[in-house]
Amino acid sequence: MTSPDALPELDEDAVEAEIRKIGVDLAAAFPAPSRNPLRALDARAMELASSDRELRAALFRFVDVVPACRSLDDLARHLAGFLGELPEVTAPVAAAMRISHTKPGRAALGAAAASGVRHMAHRFIVGENPAAALGVLAQLWRRGVASSVDLLGEATVTQAEADRYAGRCTEALEQLATAARAWPSRPVLEADASGPLPRANVSVKVSALTPLLRPDAPELGQRDAEARLAPLLRHARAHGAHIHIDMESLDSREAVLELVLKLLSAEEFSDGPSVGLVLQAYLRDSPDQLTQVLSWATESRRTPPLQVRLVKGAYWDHELVQSRQHGWPVPVFEDKPDCDRNFEALTRRLLAARPAVRVAIASHNLRSVSHAIAVNRLLGGEDRELELQVLRGLGDELQDALAARRFRVRTYCPVGDLVAGMAYLVRRLLENTSNESFLHEQAIGTPLEQLLRAP
Ligand code: 2OP
Repeated sequence: MTSPDALPELDEDAVEAEIRKIGVDLAAAFPAPSRNPLRALDARAMELASSDRELRAALFRFVDVVPACRSLDDLARHLAGFLGELPEVTAPVAAAMRISHTKPGRAALGAAAASGVRHMAHRFIVGENPAAALGVLAQLWRRGVASSVDLLGEATVTQAEADRYAGRCTEALEQLATAARAWPSRPVLEADASGPLPRANVSVKVSALTPLLRPDAPELGQRDAEARLAPLLRHARAHGAHIHIDMESLDSREAVLELVLKLLSAEEFSDGPSVGLVLQAYLRDSPDQLTQVLSWATESRRTPPLQVRLVKGAYWDHELVQSRQHGWPVPVFEDKPDCDRNFEALTRRLLAARPAVRVAIASHNLRSVSHAIAVNRLLGGEDRELELQVLRGLGDELQDALAARRFRVRTYCPVGDLVAGMAYLVRRLLENTSNESFLHEQAIGTPLEQLLRAP
């Protein structure tokens, strides 16, 4: 018997030809570049933050303390502390630090920082709370775009905070499932060969469900998170909603994966709800993790099948700093083509493993996306057997192009306030250096042929 988890044999010339065909067609479906001047300003600010290494490092350390900040005063104090470590202090930074010496000054600085960031945040965050986000989500759906709601907040530090996060998830599930019933029918988004796909879809971070997640003592955190995740799964099943478990930094991966597979192996969850998890292709050992997930999925024969969202990974800076600090081997690919090649190999294994899993390919890279669509077609799959995912604010144009060509596209939509969303925003800023945006490449004159070339 052949293993359910072998790389499919494909005619590579046919794959490349199909990729080119799909890539050219998608490129033609991209909306015209936005002439919105505010959008251009955002892009400049993002470039600045991501091009200055010291500033990146300061931002990165700032994120670590944000979850513990209780007020604007606190936020400003820490921001000033980190900015104070920059070797070269520009005039605005110096002014910010001066005013941070007094309490009213800190409140002003916190508020100013918050208002600047709030402007940029509007691009990535769909609303302060689920009720405020529902309009945008309904609009997306009408335009042929499904969504996954991410309730901002992670790395909780107290039990009360973890309870609040679980409560927000429960509430969002109910509101979303109720509102989504009134949405019009969109067949491409609502079913694949494995059955119906829930309209309500919520992404959850386990580090927000427990303050006790520690790599050296995972059991305690797993038990604590389970006590909040299990009721959430029951709610999702009752409301016919999908729960997606996000993966975060490497130090929690094993604990999260073990917890999710254990919970889903329980008799009570053998036939629902619809659940997914994430595979991060920037991790060198991601092929082994996929082997583990696929052997579980093949054995468990759970219905609906587990969805695997393949991403490159959002914690690259964190993993690099962390491993260097401890003198550990670097767990992530440091060269982008290595990561892209791994992404394609994992894409193929995932597509070949269906129907044991459902597959979602999450990337803003035109080549990676076209490759997934091409391989799916050459394996005999219909387009709707493959889900493509993008991030709100970074993948909007690709989202529109995919919807225009009637692919099943889902946009990851963060919901929440600024303090809760700070770590998320900084990840998007850091990510911007590895800009994969087709429009950006087009603007700097990269030929389409080159963008579609094998990594
Ligand atoms: C993040 O939170 C999108 O899950 C990813 O950065």
